[in-house]
Amino acid sequence: MKFEQFQLERNQSLWEGKVDYNLSESGVHPGTIKSLFDADLIEKIENTEITYGFTEGSIELRNAIASIYTGATENNVQVFNGSAEANMVAILTLMEPGDEIVYMVPNYLQIYGFARGLGVNVTTFALKESLGWKPDMDELKSMVTEKTKMICICNPNNPTGAVLSKDMVHGIGKIAQEVDAWILVDEVYRGAELNRKECTSFWEIDYDKTIVNCGLSKAYGLPGLRIGWSISNADYIQKCWATNDYTSLSVGRLSDVIASHVLHPDNRMKTLGRIRDALTENLNIFQKWVDNYSDHFSFIPPAAGAMAFIGYDWEINSTELFEKVRKEASVLLVAGDWYGMDRYLRFGYGASQSHLMAALDRVTTIFQSL
Ligand SMILES: Cc1ncc(COP(=O)(O)O)c(C=O)c1O
Repeated sequence: MKFEQFQLERNQSLWEGKVDYNLSESGVHPGTIKSLFDADLIEKIENTEITYGFTEGSIELRNAIASIYTGATENNVQVFNGSAEANMVAILTLMEPGDEIVYMVPNYLQIYGFARGLGVNVTTFALKESLGWKPDMDELKSMVTEKTKMICICNPNNPTGAVLSKDMVHGIGKIAQEVDAWILVDEVYRGAELNRKECTSFWEIDYDKTIVNCGLSKAYGLPGLRIGWSISNADYIQKCWATNDYTSLSVGRLSDVIASHVLHPDNRMKTLGRIRDALTENLNIFQKWVDNYSDHFSFIPPAAGAMAFIGYDWEINSTELFEKVRKEASVLLVAGDWYGMDRYLRFGYGASQSHLMAALDRVTTIFQSL
């Protein structure tokens, strides 16, 4: 078993603490416990016993998560350390060497690299820039065969911020059902839509072999809690709970308490509202900066999330451009190369406004010199 390097995460791990300005993040800049929560919750945190907690997630947290998805109960929910762990456990639970995945690209390549490392065959279908970063549904249909064990989707998408229409969600569901394949959907950016309307969850297709993974890191702006979840049929939930006995056992007890509060139906939309306000304001700032380079950039603004995926026409490789910007301006971007797409850059525009403006100021001289 050999895992290829996860270039995006490796480069972030190497550099994010060492630059003046980090625009490599895909979420909104998080607040502090004191700035985000009221005195009652803070007192509750202070009085919580730091036990292992609940290996499936507390009943309060699983109920709060279930309330997001029509018809779901706590028996449809398993809590994980981030959606990353939910993704990993899904692959460990269901896939064997030689099995086949049909995988959406561009994408956060965690499932891609992890599954390949386990000996799974991964074939890709592309979101097309010419279609507004949407898939060609006929192409997807032609790629899915009786051999396909799983279709993997990221919606809203990392890095493009594109969102599938309701028809496409149901269309993909139908394609999977025809060959009895699993659908594994990473919905970690769901809730961070700029039009403030939560996009269609794959949970809605009501197909037993669907696993929806999500978490608090992006749309809720709370990555440090490391809270993610899977929502699926009760039998899969039992199985992935058992796999989790071999991984991290449980989420941090304090994270469970805070997440139960954040996701409680009385509170959830407040958090999403705060994030959407920040995204709207920051995207305006960012778009003005992008407009300065409209002759060189191709940019379809994101429908969700804090990422802008931008094509450019300068004769420079994206990793080289990333390095130039890091060394000369001490600003961290994401190279298109790490998605297998040279001549693109990903900008995280979810930083605090002053940070975002200062970082864009810093990189301006470099882009002007290209
Ligand atoms: C699509 C996607 N899934 C999962 C993750 C990991 O997130 P988490 O913090 O929930 O583990 C990321 C992080 O960037 C992501 O972009």
